[in-house]
Amino acid sequence: MVFFRTVNLNETTPVISAGGVTLRLPQSGDYHAWANLREQSREFLTPWEPVWPSDDLTRAAFRRRLKRYLEDQRNDVAYAFLVFRDDDNALVGGLTIANIRRGVAQAGSIGYWIGAPFARQGYMTAALRALIPFAFNTLRLHRLEAACIPSNTASIRLLEKTGFRREGYARGYLCINGQWQDHLLYARLQDDRD
Ligand SMILES: CC(C)(COP(=O)(O)OP(=O)(O)OC[C@H]1O[C@@H](n2cnc3c(N)ncnc32)[C@H](O)[C@@H]1OP(=O)(O)O)[C@@H](O)C(=O)NCCC(=O)NCCS
Repeated sequence: MVFFRTVNLNETTPVISAGGVTLRLPQSGDYHAWANLREQSREFLTPWEPVWPSDDLTRAAFRRRLKRYLEDQRNDVAYAFLVFRDDDNALVGGLTIANIRRGVAQAGSIGYWIGAPFARQGYMTAALRALIPFAFNTLRLHRLEAACIPSNTASIRLLEKTGFRREGYARGYLCINGQWQDHLLYARLQDDRD
């Protein structure tokens, strides 16, 4: 058994396409679409995300974000994707595998958001279903984890329909919308099915 595996992906990869969506690393040319969609979705996303820094939607902050994503990918600690609809190449949201632990864990944690105009149209289900084979077959992870606030019906439904199982409850787990909030813990193992 190989316990200390890492992967070494080209910086322009991966590009993942399945189920009508394409996932790829954010690029500088995405700035306007990204900032517009995030601004348009601020009210929708705020209850479920960490507090946005005051300069979060500026071009300078986006540049810093891209630099961090690239470093994280090079170091095999996180892979950040934007999600585009294949029909018209519209940016619909984002999906990240972060906090990757190699060694005896081979685990990572997912985070996701959809732009308000695109909510509840199946895009994040398609994106997560596209990401799962990448996480297990390409990154060769053993375990994908997720956590959500108990009142986040959309996130719970998304996880349960994509094969994540509820494993526990963590008190004051993450600081979301400015408050340490309890979370439900979910995970999907390499061999789990939907
Ligand atoms: C969670 C989120 C990413 C889901 O994205 P989405 O593209 O709307 O999800 P989908 O359309 O693929 O739907 C997935 C399931 O959730 C259900 N769902 C979506 N929004 C819902 C809502 N507001 N209320 C109840 N169920 C909802 C869908 O009906 C679907 O279940 P079904 O197939 O049984 O009908 C999106 O709601 C979001 O970005 N929320 C705010 C940010 C957030 O919660 N991030 C995650 C923090 S853990």
